[in-house]
Amino acid sequence: MRHLLKLQGMREPEAREILRLARLAKKARGRKRSVQGPLTGQIWALIFTKASTRTRVSFEVAIRELGGVPSFLSAAEIQLGRGELVRDTARVMGRMVHGAVIRTFAQSDVEEFAEFAKIPTINALTDDEHPCQILSDIFTIEEKRGPIQGKRIAFIGDAACNVPRSWAEAARIFDFQLVCGAPGKFRPPAVGSHVSWMEDPMEAARGADVLYTDVWVSMGKESETAEREKIFAPYQIDRRMVRSAKGDVLVLHCLPAYRGKEISAEILEERSQDIFDQAENRLHTQKGILEWIVAKPLRGRK
Ligand code: CP
Ligand code: NVA
Repeated sequence: MRHLLKLQGMREPEAREILRLARLAKKARGRKRSVQGPLTGQIWALIFTKASTRTRVSFEVAIRELGGVPSFLSAAEIQLGRGELVRDTARVMGRMVHGAVIRTFAQSDVEEFAEFAKIPTINALTDDEHPCQILSDIFTIEEKRGPIQGKRIAFIGDAACNVPRSWAEAARIFDFQLVCGAPGKFRPPAVGSHVSWMEDPMEAARGADVLYTDVWVSMGKESETAEREKIFAPYQIDRRMVRSAKGDVLVLHCLPAYRGKEISAEILEERSQDIFDQAENRLHTQKGILEWIVAKPLRGRK
């Protein structure tokens, strides 16, 4: 059985297969399909402990368009929110639905769910990773700029949170350079041949093919807002920073965006075509992920 719990440990052929399916799904959208979708007859639970617009809507639409039925469950409204254990919730879900998409805090909760539910399980964001987002972003980059291999992706902001952590795993899988411009307190947890860190955001942005940012205050960190806004003030993607990157730099943001914080209002509006194409691609990539998860692996393939 396949899951998508994290990018850590994923191999390139699996990731490439998801992107291939995503491309096909994007092409096929809106055309009448004579064949039944791969999720026909299936019900998928979406269990969300944190807020979401893009991930929730893209999965709900993707599941429906692939023939299945989504069932959105806010964690606060099921017994999980009153302290029922993840493993007990999982054992119930596993007997009733065909797959689960989970957004929560602890990575271990998603992994425990998959273990006990014994149904295909997808990480829709934890404190450690946001794998669906980064697969989709690679889809967007390759769609707009060609193969990502060898490119310089500059992540500016909180390099210790889920989005850049998944970026760091992706850099290993797809063989590109992730350069993080982040304050010392928020540097990436590990650097190596594919991941580097510098405190000066302008230096990180220099020569970048892609400038990428995420919120300064991730969900769950709201009590640190004042401190973070002070520390991150020099890490805004603005006109000056865009100028120090490559001439045809692609500016991306996973969204939601806070204008005047991690990105200037001017740059967000100027680059909105790319940034909202990026958001749209979440839908096509979720289809790639779902199709990959329910596909029967070819004989001899792990
Ligand atoms: N980028 C992203 O995951 O957005 P949502 O929080 O709206 O799902
Ligand atoms: N790092 C952000 C991503 C939002 C999509 C958060 O966890 O809130």
